[in-house]
Order: sequence, then structure tokens, then C-alpha cells
Amino acid sequence: MQKFVVTGGTALRGEVRIAGAKNAVLKLMAAAALTDAPVTLTNVPKISDVTILRETMTDLGFHVRRVNGDTLTISAGAPEWLFVPLEAAMKMRASFMLLGPLLTRFGRVIIPNPGGDRIGRRPVDLHVMAMEAMGAEIEYRNGYYFATAPNGLHGATVAFPQVTVMGTENTLLAATLARGTTVIQNAAQEPEVDDLIALLRAMGAQIERTAPDRLEIQGVPQLSGAEHRVIGDRLEAETFAIGAAVTGGEISLTGVDAGHMGAFLDVLERMGVPHRTDVDGALTVGSAGSYAPVDVETAPYPGFATDFGAPLVVLMTQADGVSSIHETIYEDRLEYTAELMKMGAVIEVLDERRARVAGPVDLHGREVQIADLRAGATLILAALAANETSIISGVEHVDRGYEQVESKLVALGAQIHRIDA
Ligand code: EPZ
Repeated sequence: MQKFVVTGGTALRGEVRIAGAKNAVLKLMAAAALTDAPVTLTNVPKISDVTILRETMTDLGFHVRRVNGDTLTISAGAPEWLFVPLEAAMKMRASFMLLGPLLTRFGRVIIPNPGGDRIGRRPVDLHVMAMEAMGAEIEYRNGYYFATAPNGLHGATVAFPQVTVMGTENTLLAATLARGTTVIQNAAQEPEVDDLIALLRAMGAQIERTAPDRLEIQGVPQLSGAEHRVIGDRLEAETFAIGAAVTGGEISLTGVDAGHMGAFLDVLERMGVPHRTDVDGALTVGSAGSYAPVDVETAPYPGFATDFGAPLVVLMTQADGVSSIHETIYEDRLEYTAELMKMGAVIEVLDERRARVAGPVDLHGREVQIADLRAGATLILAALAANETSIISGVEHVDRGYEQVESKLVALGAQIHRIDA
């Protein structure tokens, strides 16, 4: 077990290169299982979720090699078995992304009910519904889904009752090799979904976004290999942006498309956090003496990302008045507020989804515990804004999705280091 020791109070200044997006790369890796030809991904982040999926795919008998640091080449020839181990699923929900590709290409797979972050109930019924609509037979026994489609999958109309990012992506992957046309209604619009579509098209898939929330896929008999660069991680970029604002600093972010951060930049605008996009595409976020309070509701893209509700609350603690956050995607994602309150935040939790945050307050160094990935980013940000030293446990959650977080922060002037505990 490791901990972060963070002494706050230093303004973060400088430039940081944003890594490839966690929520894109895991699906791009799963897409490589659709073909036996090599798929090469560049700008792959060095995060533990990539390592877990890499080990899982290797365990299936696929060849996954990291070359030159940020390049990953996957050759998914004949698998040794079509069984995804429970261990992978317990560590990472994205392991379920192997359902669509393995089922559509090989006609069967046994895959466990996935785990992932503790942010409320996270069923996979919509993934299962989509595969069944495409002709799969799926039985759930002892924690595993036994999925078969002996004659392959066929096209179908899949109308999601609510927006699901990975549900949309799993359906997309399955539909690329299904017979006929698949239509996904109420499809997710996240930039990471479009990044997956870009790779699939490069592999020869026929996919059109015929309306912002409607995807049409014409199945093809087989896909080829391709090379693809993973998009920059907008959530990592937003984390550093808040770091600049809460420490009174200024940070330039490169390697990320500010166009993917519209809802977030809109909130910065409303709060009075200075920011600009330079001609070379770098996004610079600064700080001001005081910030306006805001009311924010999370929503599927292009709305304000649920993953960024918690880090934004740190900025809200520095606003001049009462802000509010309304989490609409998950039913239990406010657990981090208890840790923030230990550090001096004044937060009234109204129910499982709603909280009011009063500011401005001085945050204090404390011993706190990370419960999930984004709560980790949140507590690091709060510790950087505090004037004392904090000790943060649960570092492994942060390593899932942030590449070298402490060395990037140290380069910006932060006092943070990792200790074995
Ligand atoms: C993706 O998870 C992200 N993960 C999550 O990021 C993110 O919080 C989430 O999308 C929402 O934006 C990855 O991309 C790897 P959903 P996903 O299906 O696709 C319900 C992070 O911090 N639902 O869009 O699993 C579900 O419970 C993480 O990086 C069903 O009811 O999320 C939730 O309430 C954590 N049945 C809502 O839909 C289903 O079958 C949206 O979830 C599927 C989902």
C-alpha cells in the first residue's frame, strides 16, 4: 500500500503534457480483438488500467506488446480460450468491453459481471439487452455471463432507455461484424466514443453518426489492422486546470483538444476562472482572487461529466458563496464529500445525489482516504490547495487513470511524494 504526502500552498505554474485518454484507450484495445491483423495504438497512457487489460488480453492468448513507451501493438490471433478471468473483472469494469468483440468474432464468450469503482450500482443489463437484440443467447450463472451466438450476430435496432457510454461502445464493436444493419438510438456522444469510431473505420468498419445520438453500422465480414493515436484525456486536463485555479497559479495544457471540454470551460467562465486557447491549441488556465459560486448538474456528453463533479467541488470550496452539485448519472457518488469535510470544506449533503458547498474556506492538511479514481484526484487537489501537509491513502485508485501524477505535479512546483506504508 502506498500513500501520497502532499504539502499544499504552492501555486502550480508551467506546462503539462496530457496523456492519452483512459476512457478511450481501453475500448480501442478491446476493438483490436475484432481482427487477427495487428492494431497499433500510439499515445497510450502508462496507467494501471491499461496494464490490467493488457494482461487480460494476453491471458486470452492475444499478443500485446508495448514498444517505445507510448505505443501498443495488439495481434489478436486465435485465442486460447474464450473465458475472461474473474480477477480482471473485479479490478476493472472496462473488462466487460471484451463481450462485444469476442462474441461477434468467435460466437461465444464467458465473461464475469464486472466490478470497478465504488460509485453506486453499475449494472450491465443494457449491454446484455443489446447483444440479445442482435441474436445472442446469454445466461447468467455464478457471477458469469455465458454468451453464445453460434451463427454470429445480426443487425438490430438498439434503443437505449438511458445513455450508456460502454453500452454504446460494446454494441458498436459487436455490430461491426454482425450481418446487416444495426441502429443505436440514444447513443452516447462522448469524444471517446468518436475516437473508437475513428479506429473502427480505419479498420474497415462502416459506421455513420446519422444524428448526434444515432449511430448506424453496416456489418462487414472482416476487419483489417490499423494504426491510431489515442485522443488526449480531457479529465486529466480538467484536473490540472482546477489545480491552477485553486492554488493561485497558471498551467498550460498541451496534448488535449479544448473542444472536448466545452461544458467544463463554460463552468470556469461562469466562475470567473481565466482561461484561453492559444493558436497552437494549448489551453492555459489561470487563477483569480475570487470566484463566483455556480450550480452544476452532471449529464452525458456534451453535458458536464459526472467524472468531474467531485474535483469541481474543490473549486467550489474557494468560491465566494454557496454553489451546488447535482449528480444525475450515479446514485451514490458523493462519498468523497466526507473526506473533503475533514479537510475543512463546508458541504451540506442534501441526499445521495445533491450537495451544497459554501465558500470560500481555508482547507487544512489531514489524513484522508481515496475511495475511487476521481475522488483521488479530488483529494489531491484539496491537499494542494491546503496550507498544511496531508497524507492520502488509496493511491492505487489514482494510478488506474492518471499517468505519473506526482511527477507531473512536482514539475509544476507542487510538493507531493509517494511513500510505502
Ligand atoms: C463510462 O462508464 C466511464 N468509464 C466512466 O468513467 C463514466 O463515469 C461513465 O462512462 C459515465 O460517463 C469508462 O469509459 C471506462 P455508463 P460506463 O454505462 O460506460 C447505468 C472514470 O472515472 N447503466 O455510461 O460504465 C449506470 O449504472 C469512470 O473514468 C445501466 O443501468 O457508464 C449509470 O447510472 C468511472 N445499465 C448510467 O447508466 C447498463 O447496462 C451511465 O453509465 C449500463 C449502464
